[in-house]
Amino acid sequence: MAFSEPMKRWDVVVVGEIYADHVFSGFQRWPAAGEEVHAEHYVRELGGGAVNTACALARLQHRVRLIGLIGEADRSWFETRMQGFGLSADGLRSDPLGTGVTMSVSTAEDRSFYTYLGANRRLAELLDDETIRAELIAARHVHFAMPLAADMAKRLFPLLRKAGCTTSLDVGFSPDWLTDPVNQWTCRAVDYFFPNQTEAQWLSGGESAEAFRNWASFMDIRHGVIKLGAAGAAAVVNGELLHVPPPRVDAVDMTGAGDAFDAGYIDGVLNGESTQDCLRRACICGALCTTRIGALEGLPDSFSLRSIYEQTYGT
Ligand SMILES: Nc1ncnc2c1ncn2[C@@H]1O[C@H](COP(=O)(O)OP(=O)(O)OP(=O)(O)O)[C@@H](O)[C@H]1O
Ligand SMILES: [Mg+2]
Repeated sequence: MAFSEPMKRWDVVVVGEIYADHVFSGFQRWPAAGEEVHAEHYVRELGGGAVNTACALARLQHRVRLIGLIGEADRSWFETRMQGFGLSADGLRSDPLGTGVTMSVSTAEDRSFYTYLGANRRLAELLDDETIRAELIAARHVHFAMPLAADMAKRLFPLLRKAGCTTSLDVGFSPDWLTDPVNQWTCRAVDYFFPNQTEAQWLSGGESAEAFRNWASFMDIRHGVIKLGAAGAAAVVNGELLHVPPPRVDAVDMTGAGDAFDAGYIDGVLNGESTQDCLRRACICGALCTTRIGALEGLPDSFSLRSIYEQTYGT
């Protein structure tokens, strides 16, 4: 950082949809309409990519602000859970629509989701709020974990660039967003773009990482990074794919692996590391996330990130 650059209040501001996840598992079968079936297990956890990435970055000791909307009734739950990661809930606004809810229901073979958007409906309005804008420009890096609308991106990105913030985007599984040409501007404007393999396919029309490379090169994407599940990840650098394998782990639950990956990559960016190093940190965070049930329990701290890094890739 140049000596004259003013100290930013936050390392990262993460913006996106926030959910209360209700995870029911161990059903023997799917019920017919009007029937009741009983779950073997139930857990309630904070959810949504924004929460997962913010918690992961806070655990890596960055100064993180999470911005989004919840119902007031859930505030103390969010405060307590986020505190465990060294993250304050003060960036979360309360809204009468209540916290968004995702219900995940699974048998041994299948999983289905039921979602209520709740307060997340007001996210676009929130981003037009002057106080929130001030929080965003007070960050070194702003990560959007949401299908950011094109008009909002066009308003925000020039402001952020002018304030010296780098940016990243994970739109999640949003076929409508990914296939709408209006969003190509956003893909080009963001500094780091993080689709997974399925999302990349919606963009490029092809299944392979090479198809993503061709699309990203043609579109002039600044840093296109594709997440490849157990095969790791690849970044497009000067028209070529730079591939990094993940550490070998006993994966038990993939929930949130992509969000943890984003955090690891941003950790590298904030530390001024090379693309290869950012990919390695990201792959470690994604892989470790899969070793525990849920998105939050497996997230590494800086110490375990460093030790797995050395074991996997050498020093
Ligand atoms: N089985 C695995 N073994 C090792 N690493 C894994 C495994 N699964 C995922 N990862 C790591 O986590 C990263 C993200 O996983 P994935 O490609 O599934 O993202 P995603 O589909 O966006 O996930 P999410 O469901 O959270 O949105 C991968 O790029 C990889 O580095
Ligand atoms: Mg994802």
